[in-house]
Amino acid sequence: MTDSIDFRRYIRSIPDFPKPGIMFRDITPLLAAPEAFRAAVKAMADPFRDQNITAIAAAEARGFIFAAPLALELNAAFIPVRKPGKLPFDTKAFHYELEYGTDTLEIHTDAFEQGDRVLLVDDLLATGGTMEACVRLAEQAHASVVGCVFAIELTFLKGREKLGDHQIFSLIDYH
Ligand code: PRP
Ligand code: ADE
Repeated sequence: MTDSIDFRRYIRSIPDFPKPGIMFRDITPLLAAPEAFRAAVKAMADPFRDQNITAIAAAEARGFIFAAPLALELNAAFIPVRKPGKLPFDTKAFHYELEYGTDTLEIHTDAFEQGDRVLLVDDLLATGGTMEACVRLAEQAHASVVGCVFAIELTFLKGREKLGDHQIFSLIDYH
């Protein structure tokens, strides 16, 4: 079933959003098609099924959309990585560079268990700043990062280069 779905058909491209020069890759048509969305989640899980993944971590907001069903698909814990001030328990923060300025993501200090094997998830890999922050947060918490998975990768932005030698899989790429 998965083999017969052309996932690219479910991504809408919107020029000049949110600012001039950016081609926004909109996942909402994929999310609106349950058969394609389900197949996308399964295809994102496939490379990691035999890797004893115990936890899935993802940054809000769009990362959550793929991470929650992936956690169920792989029978793993779901760990939210959030913008500052959103998590209620003790947190650890990671500050990272954006194209202009800096940003911060937080995780609960007890998010990972000893020996966790973590798969990091996001809807899209662009410059890699967001995923690099997730990798650092997981590694600082002594979790073992098995890999990173994305629905979409913008390969021309070379985000992979920020992610070390972890296994990386993306369903659709744009060159
Ligand atoms: C988008 C996207 C990724 C990130 C990718 O999130 O969902 O998380 O950008 O870009 P990067 O590789 O350059 O870090 P955004 O910050 O727009 O937030 P959202 O998920 O709340 O829409
Ligand atoms: N996040 C960063 N770059 C993006 C793009 N071109 N489309 C959708 N989300 C993005």
